Amino acid sequence: MEPLVAAVDQGTSSTRFLVFNAKTAELISHHQVEINQSFPKEGWVEEDPKEIMQSVYECMERTCEKLCQLNIDVSNIKAVGVTNQRETTLVWDRETGEPLYNAIVWLDLRTQSTVERLINKTPEKNKNHLKHKTGLPISTYFSAVKLRWLLDNVDEVRQAVLSERAMFGTVDSWIIWCLTGGRNGGVHCTDVSNASRTMLFNIHTMDWDPELCRYFDVPVEILPKVRSSSEIYGWMVSSVNPQTCLFVCKSGSLTGVPISGRPRLSQCLGDQSAALVGQMCFKEGQAKNTYGTGCFLLRNTGTKPVMSDHGLLTTVAYKLGKDEPACYALEGSVAIAGAVVRWLKDNMGIVRSSSEIEKLAAAVGSSYGCYFVPAFSGLYAPYWEPSARGIICGLTQFTNRSHLAFAALEAVCFQTREILDAMNQDSGIPLMQLQVDGGMTSNRLLMQLQADILCIPVVRPTMSETTALGAAMAAGAAEGVGVWNLSPNHLPHVTSEEFEPQINPEESEYRFARWKKAVQRAMNWET
Ligand code: G3P
Repeated sequence: MEPLVAAVDQGTSSTRFLVFNAKTAELISHHQVEINQSFPKEGWVEEDPKEIMQSVYECMERTCEKLCQLNIDVSNIKAVGVTNQRETTLVWDRETGEPLYNAIVWLDLRTQSTVERLINKTPEKNKNHLKHKTGLPISTYFSAVKLRWLLDNVDEVRQAVLSERAMFGTVDSWIIWCLTGGRNGGVHCTDVSNASRTMLFNIHTMDWDPELCRYFDVPVEILPKVRSSSEIYGWMVSSVNPQTCLFVCKSGSLTGVPISGRPRLSQCLGDQSAALVGQMCFKEGQAKNTYGTGCFLLRNTGTKPVMSDHGLLTTVAYKLGKDEPACYALEGSVAIAGAVVRWLKDNMGIVRSSSEIEKLAAAVGSSYGCYFVPAFSGLYAPYWEPSARGIICGLTQFTNRSHLAFAALEAVCFQTREILDAMNQDSGIPLMQLQVDGGMTSNRLLMQLQADILCIPVVRPTMSETTALGAAMAAGAAEGVGVWNLSPNHLPHVTSEEFEPQINPEESEYRFARWKKAVQRAMNWET
């Protein structure tokens, strides 16, 4: 049997565990579990860290059962990678292993006033005051302000810091700590791609920055150790032993089978970086756009961090090995993409399942002048305006739920157009086609709309689990694992489908110009 490599893909809306053939990149088996989000107050978004871990264990267990049904020995899994929703912030107690508060999700807006205060304190009231070190604007999006909120507002967190029991981490750190033993010697680490989203990390020195820690008044002792994105971090411990782990799987399929025989945890990458790897964008200038809860366009800029003049982020894409150089990316981040479909389903009841939206929107084939700006968490790139709010405009008596569905899909495409335009302006070399991936790309109407609105072809891989594939590739390539070769001649061949623009550019420009007017309304909705 050829070696297998697995990946935990812990996203905002769901967790997956996937197993790939390390020679052919074929997806052998997987399982997915949805994650609940809670909205305790307006603008707040939280997730339960224990539920996150339980979903990881459940996915592992079910996937291993499926492998057994296929007569595949789980001991063929040579390494497990972790890829994750970035920025989401957790603090837990190293002695009890208990989370001290819910995970504050990247979309959460509770720190809006803190952010405004921090920006007002800078000379020239400049949100880009820390950009030279972090590559990021001061925004509710990143972990440092969420951690500041926890330190200011949660007694348990404050007490744990005082008694040296507090551990901070993004979701990757939490998962790795739990999988490697938790309170019994779990490894407290993160990788450079995740660290670069905290605002505490210096993207030039590649380490936590004492000045940034002072700026946010964060104790450096509670931060995880920063590692490369592809190396052995530790060893999985059995998930069914309550002595070694806090969470108990329902059935014992992980014990007694070789996966509890300590496969190596050898990779950690933020999900957008993993998608860049999974789309084989290793060369400078190559880019991908992933449609998940949000939408994230990353363009590889090689070993040099490039600062944006058009509202994009500079981020560490990956560092594939301890002694390998770091690669950077320019990133256009859109907060709401798939989340708008979930909102239409959960809050408005317009569809019963997310997949229904395609049929509903296709029934009308146009929004008939209705524009929907889903600025539920303010607007991210290129505006970085936390006070923006969602609007739906251009309604008439004629408008029905199909038009709303269409306008929601179009909004995802218009937001992508805005970040692609910014990316083209920053790099001076326009992208001639867009490589895409993520759950929403199974929607063919969305893909066609995207090509129409960008006026360039959109290319979708046949195997949609690109994020997990990237994580598995980096895990399998780690020193000491060595079952996946990342050199250019050995990259797996990925088949894809192309969507060509079908409307004329004038029509596309006209719709985009109207969208931009709607965005102005969303930003100034109170005036
Ligand atoms: O920065 C947030 C991002 O990592 C979340 O990704 O796939 O959960 O939308 P996703």
